[in-house]
Amino acid sequence: MRTALIDNVISSFKGIFHGSPEYMVRTPGRVNLIGEHTDYNMGFVLPMAINRNVWIAFRKREDQTIRIHSLDFNETIRFSSNNPEKHANQWSDYILGTVWALKQEGLLSSGWEGVISGDIPIGAGLSSSAATEIAIAFACTVASDREWDPILMARIGQNTERDWLGVQSGIMDQMVVANARKGHALLLDCLSLEMEQIPMESDLSVAVMDTTSRRGLVNSPYTIRVEECHHAAELLGLSSLRDLDEKGLEENRNSLDEVLFRRCRHVVTENKRVLKAVAALKANRVVELGRLLKESHASLRDDYQVSGKTQDQIVEIANRTPGCLGARMTGAGFGGCAVALVMKSTEDEFASTVSRQFNQVTGLNPEIFFSAPGAGASRELV
Ligand code: GLA
Repeated sequence: MRTALIDNVISSFKGIFHGSPEYMVRTPGRVNLIGEHTDYNMGFVLPMAINRNVWIAFRKREDQTIRIHSLDFNETIRFSSNNPEKHANQWSDYILGTVWALKQEGLLSSGWEGVISGDIPIGAGLSSSAATEIAIAFACTVASDREWDPILMARIGQNTERDWLGVQSGIMDQMVVANARKGHALLLDCLSLEMEQIPMESDLSVAVMDTTSRRGLVNSPYTIRVEECHHAAELLGLSSLRDLDEKGLEENRNSLDEVLFRRCRHVVTENKRVLKAVAALKANRVVELGRLLKESHASLRDDYQVSGKTQDQIVEIANRTPGCLGARMTGAGFGGCAVALVMKSTEDEFASTVSRQFNQVTGLNPEIFFSAPGAGASRELV
């Protein structure tokens, strides 16, 4: 379907580059249904792609130059793919970092020029950054006549985060952006990178609830949590917390202080909840699914201590609104979004009730939308 966003990307390309684009790529944002802060512990996650995307319309160049205009930031960058240089804290860091990460893997990009734009809210925990990284990796792949390798490109995106941007993130976001299938959630084992596409019930709606409160990941408690988990694994003599179960945790309680014990308890119980949620989805046990979401939120709030106040508030309101099976914070936390499973017939009522009540309590105007599980990165007809 041709949206205003796509039309705008194409017509801007024509205006800026005086010609038509040859190619177009699209990458989705994601919402994580369950399995939070488990990816960098090599555990399980169950995200899905949403119907918000990043688009790039582009054409090849004869030289090594990459020239990109961002409609959202109204700025153009131009650099040699041989030598991407860092500009601290700018939108273009995701672009430069991805080209740099490709180069590190020996995947030098041919030159190309294009226009980028998207409708994934930025900094909301819906992976606008992973979508940008994967879109850039895709455009570089097409421009270089290489075969698209979604798992390798997810790793490239993760390397961009870790080695260029300094965020010790896991691989969930890039994997789902690159590998999601329409109508399905993605069960991902973050250790083996094995994936299973899980069909989503069509009378269930996924509500994405953006509180509009924000906090970045660099220098945030996110890094502290990653370090706490690595430290706990080390104390327990494990290569990651993936190898810990509830029994092992109890037996080793004395090796950990109270804080580390709680962090571990979240990871261990959250991994279990992901697998239970998949079983519940497969058997259409929606009430159980909702309960697992609620338990996940409580664990993130009390044991892992990453849910922001506004996330707690919107989750609490959603959970008492008719038609809601269960809600939880989603993404890294510290503000951003929550997700709720809602019976389809109650969508409108649910959205207006939650918006009104959340506004009364916080003064913020949340953005609530419903999304069917979308497809991962794709090459589109121009
Ligand atoms: C961010 C990171 C992911 C993951 C989540 C928390 O989105 O980028 O890798 O760790 O937080 O589940």
